[in-house]
Amino acid sequence: MRDDDTFGNTSGSPSFGDVLASRRALLRGSAAAGAVALAGLPFAGCATFPRTSAANATPATPGFAPIPVSSADTVVVPEGYEVQVVHAWGDPISDGPSFRSDATNSADDQRRQVGMHHDGIHFFPMIEGTTLSSTHGLLVVNHEYTDDGLLHPDGMRTWSASKVAKSQAAHGVSITEVRYAAGRWNVVRPSTWARRVTASTPIDIGGPAARDPAMRTQADAAGRIVLGTINNCAHGVTPWNTFLTCEENFNGYFVNPTGGVAGLQDPDQKLRIVSGQSRYGITKSGFGYRWHEFDERFDASRHPNEPNRFGWVVEIDPWNPSSTPIKRTALGRFKHEGATCALATDGRVVVYMGDDERFEYVYKFVSRHRYRPGEREGNRDLLDAGTLFVARFDADGTGRWLPLVQGQGPLSGSNGFHNQADVLIRARQSADALGATPMDRPEWIAVSPLDRTVYCAMTNNSHRGAKDRPGPDAANPRAGNAFGHIVRWREAGDDPGSDAPFRWEMYAQCGNPALAGAAERGNVNGDAYGSPDGLWIDPRGLLWIQTDVSTSAMNKGVYAGLGNNQMLAADVRSGETRRFLVGPVGCEITGVATTPDMSTMFVCVQHPGETPSERSDPARPTAVSSWPGGASDGRPRSATIAIRRRDGGVIGT
Ligand code: FEO
Ligand code: CA
Ligand code: CA
Repeated sequence: MRDDDTFGNTSGSPSFGDVLASRRALLRGSAAAGAVALAGLPFAGCATFPRTSAANATPATPGFAPIPVSSADTVVVPEGYEVQVVHAWGDPISDGPSFRSDATNSADDQRRQVGMHHDGIHFFPMIEGTTLSSTHGLLVVNHEYTDDGLLHPDGMRTWSASKVAKSQAAHGVSITEVRYAAGRWNVVRPSTWARRVTASTPIDIGGPAARDPAMRTQADAAGRIVLGTINNCAHGVTPWNTFLTCEENFNGYFVNPTGGVAGLQDPDQKLRIVSGQSRYGITKSGFGYRWHEFDERFDASRHPNEPNRFGWVVEIDPWNPSSTPIKRTALGRFKHEGATCALATDGRVVVYMGDDERFEYVYKFVSRHRYRPGEREGNRDLLDAGTLFVARFDADGTGRWLPLVQGQGPLSGSNGFHNQADVLIRARQSADALGATPMDRPEWIAVSPLDRTVYCAMTNNSHRGAKDRPGPDAANPRAGNAFGHIVRWREAGDDPGSDAPFRWEMYAQCGNPALAGAAERGNVNGDAYGSPDGLWIDPRGLLWIQTDVSTSAMNKGVYAGLGNNQMLAADVRSGETRRFLVGPVGCEITGVATTPDMSTMFVCVQHPGETPSERSDPARPTAVSSWPGGASDGRPRSATIAIRRRDGGVIGT
C-alpha cells in the first residue's frame, strides 16, 4: 500500500490515570446503586476511546516471523507463542453440568453451558487496587448460530420441542469469569458473574421503536419485551463498559410458508408486511432451523411482527448479572455485523455498523447526548436517542453521511415512512431511498485509537456485476469479488461525530499474489488472504485481520493452496501484512480481545469441522475435524483460545 500522509497522521489517547479516575467516579455511582462490587469495576481500555490528538504516535509494525498457510486440524501460531483453549461449546459457565461427548446434554444443561459458534468477544478486566488486571476478568462471547448436526445425538433426523429449546439455548451470549494462574487461563467455577443470555431470555426494547404497533405481538401487546437474541455475530463495547451484541442473519430463523399474513384482508397492508419481510430475506423455508415447528412465533405468516423484533443491537451489562438486556432500536434494524464505538470530539457516542449482505450498507449512529465519564446512570440510555446515518461512497474519494430521519428528504409519510420507528424498523428501505452505496458485504469496522481512521472489511461479493445486479464502482471495484477488500476513511476534522463529507480510500484489495489474474492477485503486500471479516486495531495501531472464507470456497478454486482460515497483522502505513495464526479445518477465525497489558490475546475459533451445508452428519461428527478435544470429545467444538508469548511479552511485537 502507498505510504500516504493523508492517512498516515497519528495521534494519542488519554492517559491511564484519566481513565482510572473516571472509573473511580463510576465506582461511587455504582456502589450507590448497589450494582457492582469493587472487584468488578469494569474497564474498556483507555486506547479504545481516544478524545485527543497527538502528532507523532507511530502505528506499530508486525514484529513476529509470519507463519505459512496450514491445512492441519490445529491452531498454528508463530515461533515463541503458545495457545490454550479457555472454553469450548458445552463447557459449564459456572458450576453447571459438564459437556457430554455424545451430545446428550439437555436444553436445561445448555442454558448453563457455553453456547455454540463463538464470535465477537471482549475481555473486561477486574480492577485490583489501582491496577487493571491482566490475569482476572470477564470474558463475554457471542454465539452466532448452531450446527444442529452436532448439537443433538441424531442431529435433525428426529425433531422435537426439546431440540428447539436446546438450539435456542446454544445461541446468544456467554459471560464467564476467567483467571490466569500457574501458566493457564481457567474459567472460575462457581462464579457469581457467570451468565447466559439466549434466544429465550427476556430483553427490553429501548429507543424510538419501543411500543410501536409494528413491534407488538400476541405475546407482547405493549411492544416492550422480546424473548431472546439470535445470530449474535460481531460486537461492540461502550465507553461505560457494557457489551453490544449484534443480531445478524435473524431472517433465517423465520419462515413464511404462505407468503402472506394469516387473517389479514387489507391488500395494501398485506403487501407492505410481506414486501418488508422479503427485503430482509424472510422466505418460505428459512435457513432450515425448524424452530417454527415448535415455537410458533417464528412463523412470520402467523406472527408478522415478530421478525421486526430482531435485527437490532442489544446492550448487555456484564457487571450486573440480574440486569435485563436492551435492544437499542435507535441504531436501526438490519443484519448487524458489529457495533464499534468511538467518541465524537464533543463527547457524543458514535457507533459504526455494517449490514452484512451483498449490496447492503455501512451505517453510523451519533448520540444526541454526550458521554460523561463516571456518570453511570446518565450514560445508561445514551444509545436510545440520536441520529442514524448511512454512507454514500462517491467516486471522487469523498463520502456523505445520509441521515435516516423521518420527514427529511425522501423519508416522508407520502413515501410510506410515517414516523421514526418506521424509518428504523425499515432501515434498509430508508437507506435505499436515500441513495446509499451498496457494498460488498460490510463486516467488522475498526477505528484507529491513534488517528481515528476507520477501517471496514467488505468480505466478498460473488454477485457484483452479475446480471441485474450493481456493477463495480469506486468503493467496490471488482466484479465477482471473491477475495474482498478493506476500505478506510477519515471523518471531517477527524471527528467521528461529524456529519460533514468524509474522505475515503481503498486500503487493500485482498488476494493471492501467486495467482495469474490481476483481479485475483489484488494488491496484498505480504501474505495472501481473502474474505476479511474480523477487524481490530490494537492500542499501538496494529491492524488485525481475521478471515472467513466460506466452507464451500475454502482451499479450492481461487482459494486453492490458501489452507484454513487465518488471522493476520498489518502495518497500516506500508500495508505489509503478516500471517499470525491459522485455525483448524473448517473453522472461521472471528473475535479478538486482549488483556490490558497485551500479554494475552483471546481469539474465537468458530465452527471447526464445518461442511458446506453448515450441518454436520451426526453419524460422522468428526469426519472433518475433531478440534480441539480430539476423538474422545466426540465432535468438534467452537472455542475461545488464549494466545501468549512464551516470554510473557506483548502480543504481535
Ligand atoms: Fe456473522 Fe457477517 O459474519
Ligand atoms: Ca463475521
Ligand atoms: Ca463472514
